[in-house]
Amino acid sequence: MKDDILEVLVSEEEIQEKVAELGKEITEMYEGKFPLVVGILKGCLPFMGDLIQKIDTHIEFDMMDVSSYGEAFVSSGEVKIVKDLNTSVAGRDILIVEDIIDSGTTLHYLVNLFHHRGAKSVKIVTLLDKPEGRTADVTADLAGFIVPDKFVVGYGLDFIEKYRNLPFVGVLKPEVYQGE
Ligand code: PRP
Ligand code: MN
Ligand code: MG
Repeated sequence: MKDDILEVLVSEEEIQEKVAELGKEITEMYEGKFPLVVGILKGCLPFMGDLIQKIDTHIEFDMMDVSSYGEAFVSSGEVKIVKDLNTSVAGRDILIVEDIIDSGTTLHYLVNLFHHRGAKSVKIVTLLDKPEGRTADVTADLAGFIVPDKFVVGYGLDFIEKYRNLPFVGVLKPEVYQGE
């Protein structure tokens, strides 16, 4: 599996150091508030799992699974809910956890949805931010690393469902995705 990686962009050590820093900032942001931390499946899972252990104040967490509709709908920001939250967001401070913001379609939809459902506040933490991909107006409140407009995988990010279990973020060798 690791043979398919051209270059490591963010090492396991760099990720873990950043996760600890972000956890500290989130702790300060929400001290005494009991936020609802919402992970967006599947990509968020490794980051979410590590991050919540670095938040040193009471939180509740829940998970949601969404998928974007076909290309034709991307610009309209249409997103389908595959698995909704079990928890009401009304009156809650929401922190959305993502592995990456690319076009911004997913988060643009979710931020609007949570406001519409009566959330008290909605903030975003993302491990990776790819600003060059952006078509929707979304800005992360906390972002770990800026990544170039390349095909990145690992630590939750997939290529046709593979590579999510890598402990680092890397760029895939072109021959791997050109063969598909
Ligand atoms: C990926 C990623 C983000 C989203 C970012 O998820 O995990 O959720 O795309 O892209 P966007 O900013 O252009 O919306 P994907 O929909 O591939 O599902 P997955 O997390 O299950 O891989
Ligand atoms: Mn995702
Ligand atoms: Mg994906």
